[in-house]
Amino acid sequence: MNVVLVGAQWGDEGKGKIIDILSEKADYIVRYQGGNNAGHTVVVNNKEFILHLIPSGILHKNKKCIIGNGVVVDPEALIKEINHFKKYGLDVDKNLIISDRVHIIFPYHRLLDVLREEKRGKIGTTKRGIGPCYADKVNRCGLRASDLLNRRLFAKKLKANVKEKNEFLRKIYNHKGFSYNELLRQYLGYARIMKKHIADTSIILNEAIKKKKYILFEGAQGTLLDIDHGTYPFVTSSNTSAGGASTGAGVSPIKMDRIIGVVKAYTTRVGEGPLPTEFGKVLMDMIRRRGKEFGATTGRPRRCGWFDNVVARHSASINGLTDVALTKLDVLDSLKEVKICTAYRYKSKVLKYFPGDIDILSECKPIYESMPGWMKDTSSCKRYRDLPVNARRYLERLSRLMGAKISIVSVGSRRRETIIKK
Ligand code: IMP
Repeated sequence: MNVVLVGAQWGDEGKGKIIDILSEKADYIVRYQGGNNAGHTVVVNNKEFILHLIPSGILHKNKKCIIGNGVVVDPEALIKEINHFKKYGLDVDKNLIISDRVHIIFPYHRLLDVLREEKRGKIGTTKRGIGPCYADKVNRCGLRASDLLNRRLFAKKLKANVKEKNEFLRKIYNHKGFSYNELLRQYLGYARIMKKHIADTSIILNEAIKKKKYILFEGAQGTLLDIDHGTYPFVTSSNTSAGGASTGAGVSPIKMDRIIGVVKAYTTRVGEGPLPTEFGKVLMDMIRRRGKEFGATTGRPRRCGWFDNVVARHSASINGLTDVALTKLDVLDSLKEVKICTAYRYKSKVLKYFPGDIDILSECKPIYESMPGWMKDTSSCKRYRDLPVNARRYLERLSRLMGAKISIVSVGSRRRETIIKK
């Protein structure tokens, strides 16, 4: 079985926990886009793990964890993460496989990310060099993991890139640039460590599919941050939606059996860009505190708002969701009233579909449907029928509005605080 799991909002939906639960049955767990801008939080035995690049399956024994060709890899961050997980006795050496086609992040990518943010206007990026690295990929001058394996060719390509980047940095930003010799030494050192992990992962995955293995494709960020389908330009630089799993892992779309979208019971986003259902200060402070809404990668406070179904339905449609995993229902436990945004008002018009134009979206006002809250603790509920009736009504309403069934409900950060409906 091949399952794609995607964030159906602006990222941080709690994908890490759901992937961790599904990983138990999976044979392969595959990251297919993004890089160490992601931060997937998983709580195991009261210990919190944050994974940035390595698929969350590494926390389970004997799961093959693949970093697919669509990912951009910062070797420094990767090696730090490998060493961190080795300290916990996890078998990273045996189980981590990195595509020979991943693009490599260099310090000049990180610097360009920072300088662009400062000088050209804010996207609110994670400053990990993700956008500039993907830009080189699309511009066909990036360096890939396979290049790291060929010392002579790597040196030649790096030299050309450093020369070009330094000229640009000097001219545009008056920055002295980077030393080619220093970068070469540093990256050849990384290559020695990464070498044993690098392979053609698309062959491995397609062989596994033939053998009917269970493959879980782990999306990072969320559909509204998709470079094509998100709130452009306030997006990340990859295809975060389900289609990205196919191109980013080298597996045909016809092979995907289920597509699970993860949504929070409300909405959050980090970074800049419109968020139509954003709370006022009182609710913002309360939900942010209860939901621990601070970025796993950058620590930035997340902006919070009511559940936006215009967003969720857009996601359900773009991704072709077969199932929904809803997280953080417990964060709403104390509210007297819960609201769902069912459409936007734009000037005198009612919009039911998510507008592609960011300037229109910025002027949209949410139209809400209100429901009574449940005002009971849900974190101890083990089965769907244990949930308070108003909580079930809320879930059923969301499911109908999204046009997708809710199969998993998460009511806390621990593995056991999860209701699997199906
Ligand atoms: P970048 O991916 O660092 O280029 O950042 C682009 C946008 O995506 C910014 O708004 C970031 O806050 C957002 N972003 C990137 N990664 C994540 C994530 O894992 N969760 C939530 N937002 C993210």
